[in-house]
Amino acid sequence: MRTPADPSTDALPRLSGRTAVVTGASAGIGAAAARRLAAAGADVVPVGRSPERTAAIARELGVEPLVADFARLDDVRRLADRLLQRCARIDVLANNAGGLFPRREATADGHEKTLQVNHLAPFLLTALLRERLEATPGARVITTSSAGNLAGRIDVDDLDGARRRYSSFRAYGTSKLLNIVFTRELSRRLAGTGVSATAFHPGPVATDFGRDSRAAGLVYRTPLRRLLLVPAEAGAAPLLSLATRPDPQEVDGAYLERFRPGRAHRQADDADLARAVWERSARMVGLPA
Ligand SMILES: NC(=O)c1ccc[n+]([C@@H]2O[C@H](COP(=O)([O-])OP(=O)(O)OC[C@H]3O[C@@H](n4cnc5c(N)ncnc54)[C@H](OP(=O)(O)O)[C@@H]3O)[C@@H](O)[C@H]2O)c1
Repeated sequence: MRTPADPSTDALPRLSGRTAVVTGASAGIGAAAARRLAAAGADVVPVGRSPERTAAIARELGVEPLVADFARLDDVRRLADRLLQRCARIDVLANNAGGLFPRREATADGHEKTLQVNHLAPFLLTALLRERLEATPGARVITTSSAGNLAGRIDVDDLDGARRRYSSFRAYGTSKLLNIVFTRELSRRLAGTGVSATAFHPGPVATDFGRDSRAAGLVYRTPLRRLLLVPAEAGAAPLLSLATRPDPQEVDGAYLERFRPGRAHRQADDADLARAVWERSARMVGLPA
């Protein structure tokens, strides 16, 4: 696999006429990616949860923000409707929004919050945008996963983790493993359509990640931050590389750690599990399998 130039420092190709939808664009990696894509001429649609933060990045880019709380599937459905009205094409769908949640919480839809925000919401959004993606030549679905996937474990009969004691890191790891499994199954289902799907780990990145977690705060909000984490601009580099590489099919279905093939939990190689996860997720968000 070719290692592309580092987009955190190198100029991106011109992206005029291309549309990039970036979720989680109100902070961190998503905001850094949205800025670089817009600077390269792309029509960027920044999506965030906080109305204030999302308005701020949208103002900076000179575009209209879209706000959706992924803990409400109705917000995701409304978001998809508005994207379909606004975007005649979708060249890049960056499923980047996500988080680590210290306590078990139920969403408006009755699901465990980590599962819904990090997996079910992007699953639903991608499904609702699928036709528009298929109608856009060379479209790509890029999902921000994590090396934390190795700490996850999928139980397809208990995706909400109701039968286990809640551990924020395990729930997070499982959701990030689901991002990889989703990517592989999406790639299989979209084979031949020209749409590619890739998941990646951005590296340990100095963002607001784990903003409510005391444990994550020990690294993300202490002087260790400067020693152990890379800046958000560098964290966005793999996403930018995937959004602009001329040969996205070469990484279709892949999981990368930054720019190279990544190490995923062995469950990520189980095609039957991927099919079962897809079908279960579809049921959970009210879509046909
Ligand atoms: N930072 C790291 O070291 C690291 C490592 C591996 C993977 N990742 C992944 O990278 C992605 C981006 O995270 P980040 O590091 O940039 O963290 P961040 O600065 O906390 O940004 C997270 C983004 O996700 C959005 N978000 C959170 N909860 C949401 C919800 N309920 N509905 C809709 N949007 C929501 C946030 O929106 P608001 O700001 O508007 O609330 C924000 O835009 C995540 O998927 C994370 O799992 C990060």
